[in-house]
Amino acid sequence: MSWFETFFAEQEYQLKERNQYRQIQAILRKGKHIITGKNQVLNLASNDYLGLAGNSQHIEDFLKQYKNNIFMGSTSSRLISGDSPELREAEERFAKWIKKETALILPSGYHANISIFAAFQETDTCVFMDKSCHASMYDGVKLGSLKLYRYPHNNMEMLLKLLKKHRAKHKNAIIATEALFSMDGDTADIKNISQLAKEYDCISIVDEAHSIGITGPHGAGITRKTELEQDIDIIIATGGKALGAAGGLIACSNKIRTFLINRSRPLIYSTAISPIIAAWLSYTMEKVKKMQKEREKLKSLWEYTRKKLKQKGYNTGNSNMQIIPIITGSSKQALFLSEKLRNNGIYSPAIRPPTVRETKSCVRISITSLMEKTDIHQLLESIGDTQYES
Ligand SMILES: Cc1ncc(COP(=O)(O)O)c(C=O)c1O
Repeated sequence: MSWFETFFAEQEYQLKERNQYRQIQAILRKGKHIITGKNQVLNLASNDYLGLAGNSQHIEDFLKQYKNNIFMGSTSSRLISGDSPELREAEERFAKWIKKETALILPSGYHANISIFAAFQETDTCVFMDKSCHASMYDGVKLGSLKLYRYPHNNMEMLLKLLKKHRAKHKNAIIATEALFSMDGDTADIKNISQLAKEYDCISIVDEAHSIGITGPHGAGITRKTELEQDIDIIIATGGKALGAAGGLIACSNKIRTFLINRSRPLIYSTAISPIIAAWLSYTMEKVKKMQKEREKLKSLWEYTRKKLKQKGYNTGNSNMQIIPIITGSSKQALFLSEKLRNNGIYSPAIRPPTVRETKSCVRISITSLMEKTDIHQLLESIGDTQYES
């Protein structure tokens, strides 16, 4: 008998035993709702924070402009023949918005992150990174075989300690953080990070995946809100969340862009992002800049939801924007709570290891500007006062 006849069954069994078994849900999206099976449920698991991905008026307007005169595929790597005006336009708009010299577009935020870190392979570069950073940042570090020093989440004292102890061992160094943390829902101390990066001669990287479009002048993110865009060397965003499209955007200097183009294997060896998606991304970027009313509505909804959840005794950690983790402390309880909400018409999956530590298992809620207070009331009534049940 070959090994794999039992291997996959064993793997599945172990995942189920650890409450870590995952399945792809068959989903149909309908505004702020999704349809799974025969049920229509409120979607509290969407990153389409401003409701742009399915905005039929914008889609119609956009498609009119491009009838028959755009390529659907990029046909090759950007460095072979995959460049197009739509990709260059998305880059120019992003750089201007973020107020950096230039930008580079990749097929996704995941690609952007792995491209940046992996580009430093074999250059004696180490990385100081917040423990809560996204998997794509870690995967980039692994792909580049870079030495990694992780500091406890948002702990600037520990970052300083690590810099003092290890910085001098390496020729080059990077400090990397998310701006708004995707699982914890709290924000980074970008000012402190940029100062430490200067003091210890490091490149600073901030991933604005969840904050782009949500805050800052014209939605330009937390780094711009704190006026640190010139102090941070690389600012990353994804087109797949508030921008309602897809793609990974890297804002940086011309020198860094040239370095990435020449050194990033995910850029060199993968087909460039589709021109129609890049064009849609440019279109939604322009819309997002003007969506101040939606940003204000979103903010008042997230403040209200968090306040009410806290009053009911739920632990929402240090979250302070539209991502609200309801921390259950165990994957079993997270699954229980998620199921309870599901039975009450609310979709919000349990977040468990390996995405987060077991003790940080949670039901993660994402508020979008498509929601109304009545939706929040539905959540609050469904979740009840008692924290957890067995
Ligand atoms: C912080 C962060 N960076 C990068 C990504 C990856 O972006 P994309 O979904 O465009 O690949 C995500 C996605 O969840 C994320 O949360």
